[in-house]
Amino acid sequence: MNYETIFKKYKNAGQEHVFKFFDELNKKDQEIFLTQLSQIDIDQVSTLIQQATAHKLTQDTDQLEPLPQDIVDVSHPQWYQNGLQLIAENKVAVILMAGGQGTRLGSQDPKGCYDIGLPSHKSLFQLQAERIQRLQTLASSFYSKNSIIPWYIMTSGPTDIPTRQFFKQHNYFGLSEQNVLFFKQGVLPCFNLQGKFMLEEKGKLAVAPDGNGGIYNALHREGVIKSLKERGILYSHCYCVDNSLAKVADPIFIGYCASRHTDVGIKVVAKNNPEEPVGVVARRNGKYGVVEYSEISDELANMRSNLDGSLAYGAANIANHFFSTDFLERVPSFANQLEYHVAHKKIPFIDASTGDRVFPKEPNGIKLERFVFDVFSHSEAFSVLHVDRADEFAPLKNGSGAGVDCPETSRTAILNQAQRFITMAGGHYQDQSIEVEISPLLSYGGENLEKLNGKFIKKSCILNSLDDVYSQ
Ligand code: UD1
Repeated sequence: MNYETIFKKYKNAGQEHVFKFFDELNKKDQEIFLTQLSQIDIDQVSTLIQQATAHKLTQDTDQLEPLPQDIVDVSHPQWYQNGLQLIAENKVAVILMAGGQGTRLGSQDPKGCYDIGLPSHKSLFQLQAERIQRLQTLASSFYSKNSIIPWYIMTSGPTDIPTRQFFKQHNYFGLSEQNVLFFKQGVLPCFNLQGKFMLEEKGKLAVAPDGNGGIYNALHREGVIKSLKERGILYSHCYCVDNSLAKVADPIFIGYCASRHTDVGIKVVAKNNPEEPVGVVARRNGKYGVVEYSEISDELANMRSNLDGSLAYGAANIANHFFSTDFLERVPSFANQLEYHVAHKKIPFIDASTGDRVFPKEPNGIKLERFVFDVFSHSEAFSVLHVDRADEFAPLKNGSGAGVDCPETSRTAILNQAQRFITMAGGHYQDQSIEVEISPLLSYGGENLEKLNGKFIKKSCILNSLDDVYSQ
């Protein structure tokens, strides 16, 4: 598309102000800007802006009901073998959503690179990679097969290059490079409260990732669905990068969902308190879905069950989802019915009258996002698995010292879990000051530690193999 065509499109959409500084740009920057502008579906975005500014995207009219208890199952080892067998047959993939920018954590790097201060200083990506590797080993040896769990990692504009570099630098943490596949989610332009696009630079629109619900478009556009089908993958475990305890490709979850012919599954824990920033699984207009913490009223968040006084909307989403490949393939057939969520943000912009960059102190613009769970209402066989928070949910949202959902709480959760695994195996710590970190390559969920029965661990250590205890 040439300048005239693009200019006309933006003029028709009432957005021609983005060309205000065009003549000041050199030839190369003009070309880069025109490429960015031509990649935006201006008609679709204009409709979204009209809806967003007219508040048509809020869900005030939705009928919400708490999750009926009879749909919730409690995690049980009975499903483990079924899940492990599916893994052994190479029918399971893992999809990681890692396109978020981690602004609350205060780190410039992708969140998965974060070191939560474990004795080994492993990053979240490394912990997750090693859990995958351990499961491959378990499935391969139990079923005498060469089991592979392909890992699809969704990045975004800001996280794509640093994430790929991090994996390369660390040699894919021992996984095979051809089984770690990156794909990039899309972006949407940000706009001000009057519905006008904002310039981040004189020749660059301010854009933001389209939310973790951007995953569905990206899965299709970037060829992931094709790849899943070529590899014969029937089920995927899809999760968020920032849960230090994430049980990646959890055989129990896979086995549970598969045995129920589930197309969409979710793991929940009991919500800690009405203010905890977690979405809750509920029924909306008669369908299952998640009500995000930013969109639930105080009244509903505080509502209590008449039966036992627990939170009525208390099934907290820990961002661990199960999808059948059939379901993922079906998403485009209803994708245009999905709504966007409006987030008011502080967006730096170029002031049209002065050409200066402004860093606002108050929210001055709107980002539109889709959430990964927006599609749940289209599920035909939805399953909910209640899991133990202590073993499955230690989110990393805030910077060091915050006291909640921060590096220190993540570190403690992992070390406490190791102590439980050792106690369950019949081992003991000589004194309370001892800290043991168990490598996921040694044990995924407490297995393989039987030889610690009756052993006393005398000093803090990282258990990479049981010899690390024997040699103490
Ligand atoms: C998320 C869940 C919330 C849940 C909580 C548990 C969503 C929309 N919300 O909230 O219901 O209770 O986790 O910890 O899932 N991401 C992308 N692309 C984006 C934006 C985010 O890939 O454009 C990824 C992030 O990298 C992260 C995940 O999605 O892995 C969650 O992102 P974030 O926006 O931080 O979600 P929360 O608000 O914590």
